[in-house]
Amino acid sequence: MIEFELNGRQVSVDADPNTPLLWALRDEVGLTGTKFGCGIGACGACTVHIDGSAARSCITYLSDVEGLKVTTIEGLDENGNHPVQEAWRNLRVPQCGYCQSGQIMQAASLLKDTPNPSDEDIDAVMTGNLCRCMTYSRIRQAVRTAATSMGASNND
Ligand code: FES
Ligand code: FES
Repeated sequence: MIEFELNGRQVSVDADPNTPLLWALRDEVGLTGTKFGCGIGACGACTVHIDGSAARSCITYLSDVEGLKVTTIEGLDENGNHPVQEAWRNLRVPQCGYCQSGQIMQAASLLKDTPNPSDEDIDAVMTGNLCRCMTYSRIRQAVRTAATSMGASNND
């Protein structure tokens, strides 16, 4: 039994401790917003936050999060109105949508660490999140929009 905080609530997951966190979230807890892409940490579709930092849940073992705080796309904001989510909606970033929960979780982590990112900062962090639909230019714009709405100026 592995216990950790998930989206603000304590959970106990009765699964093999070597289960990838991605599959524990999807199959044991039933939170399917976190997606499987590559399974080797190379695409970012499975990105969640662990103790506030972006992490690839496909290469994180369930045992790794014992006692830690895990946030998924379902818990980023209880109403789905995190500034990153609002920017994503306003700029209509998603195309097929498959990669987008990972993109949003990565972007939210970026803005927590770097509230006023340059385009280079955005590209450096977001480059590990792949999008087959090539939404990259809208992602960059949405990150900048979210940064502005979170109180930072992008003009310096
Ligand atoms: S599914 Fe985890 S990085 Fe691709
Ligand atoms: S929106 Fe389709 S893969 Fe990114």
